[in-house]
Amino acid sequence: MEILGIDVGGTGIKGALVNVESGVLTTERHRIPTPKPATPEAVADTIQQLVNHFNWKGLVGCGFPTPLQHGKCLTGGNLHEDWKGTQVDKLFKSKTGNDFSIVNDADAAGLAEINFGAGKGVKGTVIMITLGTGIGSGLFLDGKLLPNTEFGHVLYKNGEIFEKYASDSARKRDDLSRKAWGKRLHKYFKHINLLLSPDLIIIGGGASKKFDKFEAKIDIDVPIIPAEAENEAGIIGAAMAAKYQIK
Ligand code: BGC
Repeated sequence: MEILGIDVGGTGIKGALVNVESGVLTTERHRIPTPKPATPEAVADTIQQLVNHFNWKGLVGCGFPTPLQHGKCLTGGNLHEDWKGTQVDKLFKSKTGNDFSIVNDADAAGLAEINFGAGKGVKGTVIMITLGTGIGSGLFLDGKLLPNTEFGHVLYKNGEIFEKYASDSARKRDDLSRKAWGKRLHKYFKHINLLLSPDLIIIGGGASKKFDKFEAKIDIDVPIIPAEAENEAGIIGAAMAAKYQIK
C-alpha cells in the first residue's frame, strides 16, 4: 500500500510516495522551501503544491514540527505563532480535498527507524532525537511510541531550552565547527541519558548525515547512532503513522 508522506520542516517541506509495508520511497523525493513567514495559509499552499506534484488522491501522512495533540498545534514552534490552536488535518483537507493524518515530525522519524532502520528489533527504551531547525524527540518502549514528547525543550540554563543551544540552527547561528557543536551535544545527551537511561539513542534530522564529524565529542555510556534513512525517515514515518493511525 502506498501513502503520500510529507515532512514539514523549518527550512524545507519534503514529500514522496511511500510503500508502508517495506518503508521504501517509491518516487523521488520532492522538496519545496518552507515559505517565509510560515503562516498556516502559506504552508497549506505549499502542501497543495506537493499533493499536485504527485497528483495524489489518497491519504496523506504528514510530520509536523510543533507539539501536537490529536492533530492540533499546541504552539507555533519554529514555524509561526499563528499555528497555535490550528487543527492541521482539517486545514490541509479543506485546502486539498485529501484526508490527512498529522504526527509530530520527530515521532514520525522515530517510527521509521524503529520499524525499518537503526532501532529495528531493539527492546527497551529507545529515543530518537532530531537535530535540525529545532530539537525533536520520539520515545519508544519495546517498539511502541509514547507520542508528543518534547525533549528538545528541557531547560539548559537561565530558563533557556536546550534547543536554542544545541540544535543544528544554533550551530549555524553561532558559527560553530562540528567539534565545538559536538561539545554542546555532549552536554545535551548526558542530560538526556540522566533523565531516561535509554538503551539506544538514534540521531536524526539533517545532522544525521554528518554524524562522523561530531560523534567523538559525545562521550556517554549509551550507544548513539545515526538514523539509517537519514533525512527520509520523517517522510517514511509520517506515511506509516497515517496507515497505522498513530498520533
Ligand atoms: C518542536 C518539536 C519538533 C522539533 C523538531 C521543536 O521546536 O517543539 O515539536 O519535533 O522542533 O522539528
